[in-house]
Amino acid sequence: MSNSQKVVIVTGASQGIGAETVKAFRKLGYNVVATARSIKPSDDSGIATVAGDIGDPATARRVVEEAVKRFGRVDTLVNNAGVFIAKPFTQYTPEDYATITNVNLSGFFYITQLAVAEMEKQKSGHIVSITTTLVDHAVDGVPSVLASLTKGGIAAATRSLAIEYARRGIRANAVSPGIIKSPMHPEETHAALGALHPVGQMGEMSDIVNAITYLDSAPFVTGEVLHVDGGQVAGH
Ligand SMILES: NC(=O)c1ccc[n+]([C@@H]2O[C@H](COP(=O)([O-])OP(=O)(O)OC[C@H]3O[C@@H](n4cnc5c(N)ncnc54)[C@H](OP(=O)(O)O)[C@@H]3O)[C@@H](O)[C@H]2O)c1
Repeated sequence: MSNSQKVVIVTGASQGIGAETVKAFRKLGYNVVATARSIKPSDDSGIATVAGDIGDPATARRVVEEAVKRFGRVDTLVNNAGVFIAKPFTQYTPEDYATITNVNLSGFFYITQLAVAEMEKQKSGHIVSITTTLVDHAVDGVPSVLASLTKGGIAAATRSLAIEYARRGIRANAVSPGIIKSPMHPEETHAALGALHPVGQMGEMSDIVNAITYLDSAPFVTGEVLHVDGGQVAGH
C-alpha cells in the first residue's frame, strides 16, 4: 500500500466519460478506484475496481473502503455516474423517477459523505460532480424535468459543500456539460443534437475530462459550476 500517491474515485467508470476520466487520472499518476455496475477487474495495478449499484449505500462503503485498503487515502471523488431520461413531464413513470433519483441523487449522496469523511482526516480533498447545462438552460423539445430536479440538486449541493468545507481544505466543484459524444447518444442522433448548441456541434468526452482535471488542479477554485456546453448556457 503506497500512501504518497494521490487517489481518485471515479463513479460510472465502466464506459463513456467515466472510463475516459479513469485513463486521464492514471496518466496524471493517480491511483484510481473505478466503480459501476458492470465494471470489470483491471490488469493495471493502479486501478482497483468495485462493481455495484452506486445508489446503494453498501456500494459506496465498499468503494471508499477499497480506496483506503488498497491505496491508503482518498484525494478526489468524481461523481460521474448518471442517467438521463427525456420524457414529457406527465409521462415519467414511478420507475423512471426511482431510477433517476437512485443514481443521480443517492449515487451522489452516500459516496460523497464517506469520501468527505476520509478527506477530513487528511484536511484536503476535492469533490467534482457532473451535472448538465439543462439545469440552467432548459431547451424547447428536450423535456428534462427529472434531469433538472436531480442534477440541479447536485449543482446546489456543490456550492453548499464548498462553503461548509472551505476552511477545512476540501473543495467542491461541478462540470456542467452540453451534449457530449458518449455511448449515451447513438451516432445517428449526433447531427440533430449538435444543432442544439450555439457552436453547432456536440462536445467530445475529452472536453469534459479536461474540465475535471483542470478543476482538480485549481486550489483557488471551489463552489464553481463550470459549463462546458458549446455556449448553451450563454443563450441562443
Ligand atoms: N453524454 C452527455 O451528453 C451528457 C450530458 C450532460 C451530462 N452528462 C452526464 O455525464 C455523466 C456521464 O455520462 P456518459 O455520457 O458518460 O454516460 P454513459 O455512457 O451512459 O455512462 C454512464 C455510466 O454510469 C454508470 N451507471 C448507470 N447507472 C448506474 C448505477 N445504478 N450504479 C452504478 N453506476 C451506474 C454506467 O455503468 P453501469 O451501467 O456499468 O452501471 C456508466 O458507467 C452522467 O452523469 C451524465 O448525466 C452527460
